[in-house]
Amino acid sequence: MPTISNKGRNMPESPIRKLAPYADSAKQQGKKVYHLNIGQPDIKTPEVAIEAVKNIDLSIIEYSPSAGYESYRNKLAQFYQRQNVNVNSEDIIITTGGSEALLFALATITDPGDEIIIPEPFYANYHAFASSTSATVIPVISTIESGFALPSIDIVEQLITPKTKAILICNPGNPTGYLYSESEIKQLAGLIKKHDLYLIADEVYREFLYDGDDEHFSVMNLEEVDQNVIMVDSVSKRYSMCGARIGCLVTKNKAVLATVMKFAQARLSPPTIEQIACEAAIDTPQSYFDEVISEYKSRRDTLITELNKIDGVVVTKPKGAFYCIAQLPIENADDFAQWLLESYDLNGKTVMVAPAAGFYSTPGMGLNQVRIAYVLNKKDLVTAVNILKEALLVYNKR
Ligand SMILES: Cc1ncc(COP(=O)(O)O)c(C=O)c1O
Repeated sequence: MPTISNKGRNMPESPIRKLAPYADSAKQQGKKVYHLNIGQPDIKTPEVAIEAVKNIDLSIIEYSPSAGYESYRNKLAQFYQRQNVNVNSEDIIITTGGSEALLFALATITDPGDEIIIPEPFYANYHAFASSTSATVIPVISTIESGFALPSIDIVEQLITPKTKAILICNPGNPTGYLYSESEIKQLAGLIKKHDLYLIADEVYREFLYDGDDEHFSVMNLEEVDQNVIMVDSVSKRYSMCGARIGCLVTKNKAVLATVMKFAQARLSPPTIEQIACEAAIDTPQSYFDEVISEYKSRRDTLITELNKIDGVVVTKPKGAFYCIAQLPIENADDFAQWLLESYDLNGKTVMVAPAAGFYSTPGMGLNQVRIAYVLNKKDLVTAVNILKEALLVYNKR
């Protein structure tokens, strides 16, 4: 039989989706499963975007330009400028989700074996994107005890080798909810300048900040190192438009843009109809965001309050995004998560969590941790955490 490539065999399975068959069979047995494992928001997409799709008047669903529609890129640039983020339309290439922007970024700057330093735990698909482009992930551990703050810059620096090409951060972070401060970003800027590296920042959760005085500091505002900076963004979470598959790659570096364009041209274009929806979404009223952020903030507060009621659980309050990492009084979260679906229910209900080991690349890290997404309404969150609490008692007594 013809063989599968090493790259294909080494491609990691999604830690978020690998438990799905157990969830399906729990549902077939009639159990209700509360999904605390995925980042699919239950928030409505802005009306302006839905209306724009309904009113589309096209006789041909044509390819768009490879970099995306100019009208959309112009409006997107204005959107960033209103947030004091230093971006012009010519700095932007529209991609098929933030996922494609990450792939294009890695494909553009790495050769096989080149290294990318990433604070862990990190969004599990970074592994997959690195694997697809034959780059090597070099993790730098951030700890639950420090609330997942950036590790000391000396520790990050010690990991730099002649093969290092970039530092990749997610701000605010999935799965930690950590928000890097301006001073942490500036420390990273100093390091990439000193060693002539790229800084890639995944800012897909940039709007999701919950504490009044916190502000998001975009890497696009690092003017001194603007040739070294690549920003990745997406509409998936901002407008609850995950299925639109629209994101963007942003940089001031013309050589990077020209190379990304070659990848963009090879895949022809980002989705046409969805760009029309995204262009309209830029006119989403501020009241939409105010409501969404206030809803997530109260979900976060509810989740953390409820988790803190469980003996032996360690959790820090996330500042942004809609996830947290919780350390549970167990040894193996993979086993626990599977057991929850296969063997446990509380009055016909159970929960699905994402074991956190898949968000680390250092072996043995995160074994007793899970990622919890607060994408359920507050009533369901309270019920789900109560199920978790009762389940832990039963699991640990077995
Ligand atoms: C941190 C992070 N980056 C990128 C993505 C990919 O987003 P997109 O739907 O735009 O491809 C996600 C999706 O969950 C994410 O959590």
